[in-house]
Amino acid sequence: MKAWIARLFEHPELLKMGHAQRAEDLNLGLGWVYYGLARTLRPRTVVVIGSYRGFVPLVFGRAIADNGEGGSVLFIDPSLADDFWKDPASVDAHFRGLGADNVCHFLMTTQEFVQSDAYAGLGEVGIVFVDGYHSAEQARFDYEALAPFVPEDGVVLFHDTLRERTSKVYGPGRLYRCDVKRFIAELREDPALQVLDLPWGEGLTLVRRPGEEGSGS
Ligand SMILES: C[S@@+](CC[C@H](N)C(=O)[O-])C[C@H]1O[C@@H](n2cnc3c(N)ncnc32)[C@H](O)[C@@H]1O
Repeated sequence: MKAWIARLFEHPELLKMGHAQRAEDLNLGLGWVYYGLARTLRPRTVVVIGSYRGFVPLVFGRAIADNGEGGSVLFIDPSLADDFWKDPASVDAHFRGLGADNVCHFLMTTQEFVQSDAYAGLGEVGIVFVDGYHSAEQARFDYEALAPFVPEDGVVLFHDTLRERTSKVYGPGRLYRCDVKRFIAELREDPALQVLDLPWGEGLTLVRRPGEEGSGS
């Protein structure tokens, strides 16, 4: 695992984006939470919406591979921040070069994904990771599109939930307000949900809808 993390962190961009990673001690930061959840839940399918350079799909891909039971990460990203995800061959080389041959990229928005054959054929999704366009409205769309596929022992994770801010990630002329936190406040009002904030890095929130007994298997 240490050798793999060292390989990841040879790419300085995989140390960015607020997951509290640290190269000096090969520390995945919140990545340990993503890895640990996927090793514990052992999902066959994880859906990740949005990633700058693939840190989250890579960590989930590694966890699913380590589970040794098959499965894949469906990674939805239309490459709006730059061209990084535009070329299928280089996307494939990026993931395979970092040991992940179980990440399947969809070059599309979540709005387009819900119209796709892949969405029509979706079965149970053990973990959903929401990290695309960080408006409350888009977070709601992503949640409503994927949460119905999450079983009662599954979990939906939202990144960038610590604070509201203005982002220039789509260029200085396309400033936008990141207010996922507002959507989380709404979810917190739903008595059927458990909502837990982890205020590290840019913030992670875990949301689950437990069954009648209140716990997973
Ligand atoms: C720049 S990343 C945010 C960084 C992220 N916190 C990380 O850890 O990598 C946001 C990504 O969301 C994607 N995105 C934007 N709108 C989206 C949408 N409607 N559906 C899916 N992905 C979207 C963008 O293409 C971008 O790559």
